[in-house]
Amino acid sequence: MLETRPLTPRLGVEVLGVDPRAAIDGETAAAIRAALDEHSVLLFRDAAMDDETQIEFSRVFGDTEVTLKANPAGGTPFARQSNLDIESGEIIPPEDRRMRYQKGNYMWHSDSSFKAVPSYCSMLTARITPPEGGNTEIASTRLGYDTLDAATRARIAPLEVEHDIVYSRGLTGNVLTTEMKAQTQAVRHRLVRINPANGRHSMLIGAHAARIVDMAEDEGRALLDELLAATTRPEHCLSHTWRDGDTVVWDNRACVHRATAYDTVKYRRLMQRTTISGSPATIQSL
Ligand code: OGA
Ligand code: MN
Repeated sequence: MLETRPLTPRLGVEVLGVDPRAAIDGETAAAIRAALDEHSVLLFRDAAMDDETQIEFSRVFGDTEVTLKANPAGGTPFARQSNLDIESGEIIPPEDRRMRYQKGNYMWHSDSSFKAVPSYCSMLTARITPPEGGNTEIASTRLGYDTLDAATRARIAPLEVEHDIVYSRGLTGNVLTTEMKAQTQAVRHRLVRINPANGRHSMLIGAHAARIVDMAEDEGRALLDELLAATTRPEHCLSHTWRDGDTVVWDNRACVHRATAYDTVKYRRLMQRTTISGSPATIQSL
């Protein structure tokens, strides 16, 4: 049995007594995955990770994705969320394209939902944290789904949703380069997903959700906004205040998350994310 402590009454636990830098045996790995199915967010504290230990710990959950070229760590298993230049370590000026691109993270989203195979979970490790600001907020689409009335549940049950990173980046006025656009195209997923481990329903929504298939643009937009609003009610959210050496894993199938602001001129922040692949083709998975 894994020893855990709740982070909020309904979402997330801190895992105690497991060092994510150590070798994890099969039984513990299964217990960790079961805890993620159950709680959607896991926190491991006071265990400073480096790239090598993070890759190793990511294997507990599965294979890692390769990051899009738009990220400074593109082409590797890491997504770097930082205001520090990857080469020099100097603070990047706020008007730099790399800082503007990160503004996309301020919108609620599910990592890699714009990929044909949306991800299972993400692992974010805190290498350098600012003394204030820069929390990560996570909201449960499962708790959001649970608050929907029967008519809405019936309405959304058969729907498919198109996810598109060209759409979401457009929302922040952040036009992708032609090369970046060529790396992705819009994909369709089932809007409602069921976790086979526990039968819980969740929704694949967030910033990359561009339109509902076979629905008028406005109507689809209104529905997506309504579902996101149900999900991001305060009682369905947690706000994680980072400490150096934290590792947080969230279930991208059951959550949306977003970055929050910090003083990027005054403080340094370096977080490294690995993204673990999901199971294929949500269109066929229900
Ligand atoms: C991410 C992300 C939020 C943050 O790494 O996927 O959205 O607070 N990060 O850095
Ligand atoms: Mn993210």
